[in-house]
Amino acid sequence: MNSAEKQLAILLDFGKVINKTKSLNDVLESIANFARDILQADRCSIFVHDAHKEELWSKVAHGTEPIRISTKKGVAGNAALSKEIQIVVDAYNDYRFNQDVDKKTGYLTHTILAVPLLDNQENTIGVFQALNKKDGIFTNSDAELLLLISNYAASAIENAILYDKLRDTQTKIINKLASAAEFKDQETSKHTKRVGLYSALLAEKYGLNKDDIYKIELAAPMHDAGKIGIADKIMLKPDKLSFEEFEIMKTHSQLGHDLLFDEENEYLKAAALIALEHHEKWDGSGYPHAKKGEEISIFGRIVAIADVFDALISVRPYKEPWSFEKAHALLNENSGTHFDPALITLFNENIERIRTIYQELKD
Ligand code: C2E
Ligand code: SIN
Ligand code: SIN
Ligand code: SIN
Ligand code: FE
Ligand code: FE
Repeated sequence: MNSAEKQLAILLDFGKVINKTKSLNDVLESIANFARDILQADRCSIFVHDAHKEELWSKVAHGTEPIRISTKKGVAGNAALSKEIQIVVDAYNDYRFNQDVDKKTGYLTHTILAVPLLDNQENTIGVFQALNKKDGIFTNSDAELLLLISNYAASAIENAILYDKLRDTQTKIINKLASAAEFKDQETSKHTKRVGLYSALLAEKYGLNKDDIYKIELAAPMHDAGKIGIADKIMLKPDKLSFEEFEIMKTHSQLGHDLLFDEENEYLKAAALIALEHHEKWDGSGYPHAKKGEEISIFGRIVAIADVFDALISVRPYKEPWSFEKAHALLNENSGTHFDPALITLFNENIERIRTIYQELKD
């Protein structure tokens, strides 16, 4: 193969890796490997820029532990601040070079090529750096190549940052909704947290995967979000509800579902399903759809248990709190009728962990 063919082969390989790998670190690592091969460099690093701290954090660094450097010093810092390509042909005789990193790593830097990673608004989001070209020095055409490759790294980093922000926003919205329902219900945020934690524990013991465990912990506290739509006169009534009042109260399941459902968002989808199903019963006598057994999703079956248990041990406008033991006994009395018996077994097997959650988050 001639060198153009070699480059093409590397490029094709690179495309395959990029499509298959998912996590940001994997993507950046394959980009760094690719850059090292194509530039004939000894090592490459990709730094992410922290503008607040005025630092660069290595996401990938061949041959060393992750490092953190100031943007005020060194070649990479220069690239970050000036947003210009840096080519260094003799590091120890170059004013831009900062020897601290070599001292720490025991590496001996001779030549450096560093390019800034810029976002759409031309902000520096990182630096891509290659060290010690195997043969000779880094050239302008090496710089062109590295800039091209850098576009991949920049968009991978940008996507990851956007994704983190989105997830942050979603979590905030979700927590706001949960506290809105609490306010209406005169329930405490400790209560909603407990329902999330009991649910996550049961989900883990049942063998759901990490994603689903996190999802239920986040979504379970919103099971009563639909109570926002129920009149205070009913919600806060200190006595038993009349038949008609209870019929209205029962609409909180569907109301909550419709309020929370969002086709695009897996957390809100799970929350909507939980709101809809948390008063269904294993024997088919629940509401709103009288679903039976495994027609009720595992999320719905789990939250049904966590909700009733916590409602019993909590104070309500219409009832005093029950003791832990009495609430635990009621779950067992209703195993196989109200509740999925396999889940009640798991609840019993893990009663000490349930008790710990209860004690640590007492009202
Ligand atoms: P909640 O207070 O969060 O109660 C959730 C579920 O826990 C209830 O669902 C029920 O299955 C169980 N639970 C709560 N307290 C008791 C109890 O003292 N004994 C027994 N055996 N189970 C209990 P349910 O029945 O579908 O009620 C849904 C919601 O309707 C309740 O949520 C509460 O907000 C309201 N509600 C139910 N009954 C009454 C009542 O008599 N008076 C008033 N003011 N509200 C009620
Ligand atoms: C620098 O940016 O000056 C340090 C280069 C290195 O990583 O050795
Ligand atoms: C809520 O969302 O307000 C709390 C849950 C509950 O009532 O059990
Ligand atoms: C599950 O059953 O594992 C998830 C809940 C659902 O969407 O049914
Ligand atoms: Fe409810
Ligand atoms: Fe509830």
